[in-house]
Amino acid sequence: MKESDMWKQTDEEILQQIPEKLLAWYDENARILPWREDPQPYRVWVSEIMLQQTRVEAVKPYFERFLKALPTVADLAEAPEEQILKLWEGLGYYNRARNLQRGAQAVMAEHGGVIPASFELLKKLPGIGDYTAGAIGSIAFQIKVPAVDGNVLRVISRVLWRTDNILDVKVKRRMEGEIRGILPERVGDFNQSLMELGATVCLPNGAPKCDECPLQELCRAHLKGEEESLPVKAKPKKRKIEDRTVFLLVCDGKIALRKRPEKGLLAGLWELPSQEGTLEEPEAEKLLESWEIQMEQPLQKEKNAKHIFSHVEWHMSCWSGTVEAESDDSGLIWASAEELDENFTLPSAFKAYRPVIKRLLESLQE
Ligand code: ADE
Repeated sequence: MKESDMWKQTDEEILQQIPEKLLAWYDENARILPWREDPQPYRVWVSEIMLQQTRVEAVKPYFERFLKALPTVADLAEAPEEQILKLWEGLGYYNRARNLQRGAQAVMAEHGGVIPASFELLKKLPGIGDYTAGAIGSIAFQIKVPAVDGNVLRVISRVLWRTDNILDVKVKRRMEGEIRGILPERVGDFNQSLMELGATVCLPNGAPKCDECPLQELCRAHLKGEEESLPVKAKPKKRKIEDRTVFLLVCDGKIALRKRPEKGLLAGLWELPSQEGTLEEPEAEKLLESWEIQMEQPLQKEKNAKHIFSHVEWHMSCWSGTVEAESDDSGLIWASAEELDENFTLPSAFKAYRPVIKRLLESLQE
């Protein structure tokens, strides 16, 4: 096919050609790995958990030793935790081992000791998410589900020349859907062939071996000479941290609210009066004076709270107190507990202070 014609193929046309080419390559080039030789569900499960954060070569000896010591789900479920951690020593991320045992105990208790041949039930076991359930389901049970890890995202992003951010869940979901649409009968082998290509040929960090790749002719990124700039992984920007001091001001059984500016964060919504910065007591008192507010007693410190917006985090400290009289000039509105429930919407950024407001308003009624 001429290069110019290849460029005319749709995504679907490219995707459809992948399974046959990749399976033929896999049959010749798959690494011989112990869990592939004998893909019983328990063996595949243990291998996939070990492979979650660890390279194949590093996993191999651990896998053999683990299976020798604990050859069945029942053995794993009953083993002392110390033994499991010892077998895992050096692999790191020890919660994987603890979850694996909790999963084995769940299989014994809830599934009569038989690992369930169901994507949904596998996903309910501790430590098993979409990817791992897809891998175990397809490799051990031939269930037609995708298993999309970082390797697969890289391969498909390059073949289709996708410049979307692969760290975005929506991008991953879309790709899972596309792969679901091309899954062949040999689904376990196919999923593994995609991973295998990513792990051994379609390498990250400037080292793809395009000359050895069975998808070279299909690959748009290769055609454009842009395989090394894909996939795009855009970390979300760091959120700005904003310290705020919130005031819970009570007068005659009512709490002070204020309208936020019409522009910006929480535009035009009601809020608890607040001020940027973490104000200590004297500064807080001075600010209230500038709002022409007279306190009856010294301010009381309330709990700190945090709220996370998409681009900003509010780290809130809080003072409460009883005000002598409602001031007309302060720009504050006073709401009873009932009015707060029925007439005003307080953004969830202030949720942590709801019970505190309730307590303050109730204590005044007594
Ligand atoms: N990484 C995770 N699971 C794998 C598998 N089954 N084959 C190759 N690499 C993997």
